[in-house]
Amino acid sequence: MEDAPVWFISLACLGAVYVAALCARPLAYLALCLRRPKDLLRCYGSWAVVTGPTSGLGRSMAMELARRGLNLVLLDLDAANLQETSAAIKALHAVKVKTVVLDLSLVATPQGDEAIRRLREAMEGLDLGLLVNNAAVNTPGAVYLHEADIERFVRMIRINLWGLTEVTAAVLPRMLERGRGAIVNVGSGSTVAVPSFPLYTVYSSTKKYVAQFSRSLYVEYKSKGIDVQYQVPFYVHTRMLSSAVKAKLRPWFVATADEYTRTAARWIGNGPLCVPGAAQKLQWCLTGFVPDWAHDWYRIRLHLQHRAVTRAGRRAAVTPGDGSSPRGQVITVGNSGGPKVMAG
Ligand SMILES: NC(=O)c1ccc[n+]([C@@H]2O[C@H](COP(=O)([O-])OP(=O)(O)OC[C@H]3O[C@@H](n4cnc5c(N)ncnc54)[C@H](OP(=O)(O)O)[C@@H]3O)[C@@H](O)[C@H]2O)c1
Repeated sequence: MEDAPVWFISLACLGAVYVAALCARPLAYLALCLRRPKDLLRCYGSWAVVTGPTSGLGRSMAMELARRGLNLVLLDLDAANLQETSAAIKALHAVKVKTVVLDLSLVATPQGDEAIRRLREAMEGLDLGLLVNNAAVNTPGAVYLHEADIERFVRMIRINLWGLTEVTAAVLPRMLERGRGAIVNVGSGSTVAVPSFPLYTVYSSTKKYVAQFSRSLYVEYKSKGIDVQYQVPFYVHTRMLSSAVKAKLRPWFVATADEYTRTAARWIGNGPLCVPGAAQKLQWCLTGFVPDWAHDWYRIRLHLQHRAVTRAGRRAAVTPGDGSSPRGQVITVGNSGGPKVMAG
């Protein structure tokens, strides 16, 4: 080694630094995996706000938090669904539940402002420790941008991005007052595992916003006692996945909502980013080995298949001869009522 030329030693050092940098991330993540889950009640407070708690991951997360003894403020767009969810939680767990009707697509309108005012009122005087921004929609999906009604994309943006921002801004002052809290923003595997998500472009772009929003808030509020985390589900069995897509997925890669949220709740407060669940982590890890061009090639092919299924479903859903859709008419893809296709 003593006789080795300088260029060789320099290259070896550079290589060693590169390998160390590559290993640092997974090792830091592994260290986080080994951490004990936080006692949410003791670390943050006795109340949690959950958006979109009436189905899928949100419902499951609300149940999990109630199981851990947290009281809940549930926020969703349908009063009857909220009542049903609240009753189901109280039947199983001895916690208090408040409900606030808020259609997130109406934020920054007079009705939305009124609902945000009711949310602030509902949080008054509570020992509020946790916010789970879970609500989102993924329709229109499996469409080219020019194919769907732009108003529906605007609605998606309002719910997934604008609504989440307003709810967070409404909750933060409560946490700042007490100098502690945790915010969980539910994202999507499309933002961390693949370089593109064609035909679900607007959905994955809204989630990319949530990723950046979360990471910057993490840095902004860390010193103020507030932990912000971006949680990334890959495939989870909920209403958001169509049965056609579920049938194509490998079952061991698809978690149930309860499996997912049990792990997700254990991660709260541990780091800025988490992909809960071993199978989901494995998918994340494996996608890292695939070059971007291969991802792009595969994604557009897969999502064009989704598009074909969606269009076929829509055609089948229109009864011939009812006057509403003459034979051969092109049905607008992406309008509500048709079969839903996934967006991870
Ligand atoms: N399932 C997956 O494989 C998967 C993968 C990646 C990411 N995610 C993310 O996980 C989160 C939960 O999704 P999910 O699979 O559980 O979907 P879901 O079953 O469709 O649940 C969505 C929830 O959001 C609520 N919501 C929809 N529009 C709303 C609005 N305008 N205002 C207020 N609430 C509204 C829904 O209320 P209603 O029931 O009243 O409509 C429902 O409670 C989302 O952020 C999604 O992007 C899911």
